[in-house]
Amino acid sequence: MKLWQPFTQHAVTPPPPVVARAEGAYLYLADGRQLFDGISSWWVTTHGHSHPVIRAAIVAQSEKLSQTIFANFTHDAANEFADALSRIIDPKFARVFLSDSGSTAVEVAINMVVGTWFHRGQPQRHKIIAFENAYHGDTVGAASVGARSVFTRHGEPLLFEVLRVPSPAFAGAGSAEDAARCLEVLAQTLRTHENEIAAVMIEPLVQGAGGMKMYAPEILDEITRTAHAHDIFVVFDEVMTGFGRTGTMFAYQQCRELPDIIALAKGITGGFLPMAATLATQEIFDAFYSTDRARQLFYSTSYTGNALACAAAAANLRVWREENTLEKIAAINSWHQKFLPALNVQNPRIRGTIAAFEIGGDANYLAGIGAELHQFCMTRGIFIRPLGNTVYLLPPYCATEDDLKHCYETMAEFLSQNTLLAA
Ligand SMILES: Cc1ncc(COP(=O)(O)O)c(C=O)c1O
Repeated sequence: MKLWQPFTQHAVTPPPPVVARAEGAYLYLADGRQLFDGISSWWVTTHGHSHPVIRAAIVAQSEKLSQTIFANFTHDAANEFADALSRIIDPKFARVFLSDSGSTAVEVAINMVVGTWFHRGQPQRHKIIAFENAYHGDTVGAASVGARSVFTRHGEPLLFEVLRVPSPAFAGAGSAEDAARCLEVLAQTLRTHENEIAAVMIEPLVQGAGGMKMYAPEILDEITRTAHAHDIFVVFDEVMTGFGRTGTMFAYQQCRELPDIIALAKGITGGFLPMAATLATQEIFDAFYSTDRARQLFYSTSYTGNALACAAAAANLRVWREENTLEKIAAINSWHQKFLPALNVQNPRIRGTIAAFEIGGDANYLAGIGAELHQFCMTRGIFIRPLGNTVYLLPPYCATEDDLKHCYETMAEFLSQNTLLAA
């Protein structure tokens, strides 16, 4: 049997090379090549591949307990993770529900908000407000709140309807017009549908897979404030933005207004093992708290609370405490600021450790130019995976100035050979 790769059109893609090992910011291929991991292996690797502290924690945990059913039990690794998380997260978030991926963290969030209104005697409040360009994962609920696009075209009849609002960052860098349009339609939607709405779901500060579209914390504050004024929950999907990507440990820390639920995954284990967490307020937990067993949160997957993943997640937070990760993040930001302006590209934008721009026209996920740039970079020892013609760098935090300089020089070389692509 042969492998069927994710998000891959096999007819136009060469067979994938074999990664033999990875360390720090580098992937080492079986054929001897060495590649800088310019997108942190789909945004999961934070401190670097094979970080010794996380590796050792997984090994030590595997000698005690790898997996147990999490419905009837807890374990030291999960407790340590929850304790460590509560020391760094706003106390508004009283409960953490564990699952396996960003998509399941979002599904859990949907169940929490819809369930809360149901248990409060308002079952008609089941609609979610979501945004154009949004991406929240590929399970059916998560895809439903995500934008309708080429990603979802084949299965659209199966997706549930949401109330769609324009993106706060339609044109990539978040213009005042984009923000005004978004806020106007949001306010109108809330007025018209108030009694049907359970929550607003949004990727805070950066819409990731929808094109690395960035917008300001003030706009997000306005979105949250407007929803709260109508007594509607706000869910921040921090699956991509969490664990440092936008310059702070969590994107919500750049805002004045807090959401009611936060979905985390990707960097939660430092990029070692699949795991996710959905953080909720006491108020939401209490809606399910009852002697009536029918009111419990009916959600789980078999590996929920996996002990190895929890040990990795707890060790990840230890690394955050012991290493100056935020300084590394600030340094990456300063290198983007130094190198990106020199590229003559459309919509250059930076937020935290993420830098993005378009080449050869407006954002288009199916544009082949991204695949060409990917191949070109592979020949120069760099792995990136543009979203069509939206090119972005999202490196692990152990990346050096030289690593980024090489990325930018390589992209400049590609652009100079394709002069029609310049802005
Ligand atoms: C904002 C956001 N939410 C959810 C997901 C889905 O996460 P996963 O791929 O772990 O299911 C992603 C994945 O890229 C994401 O960027």
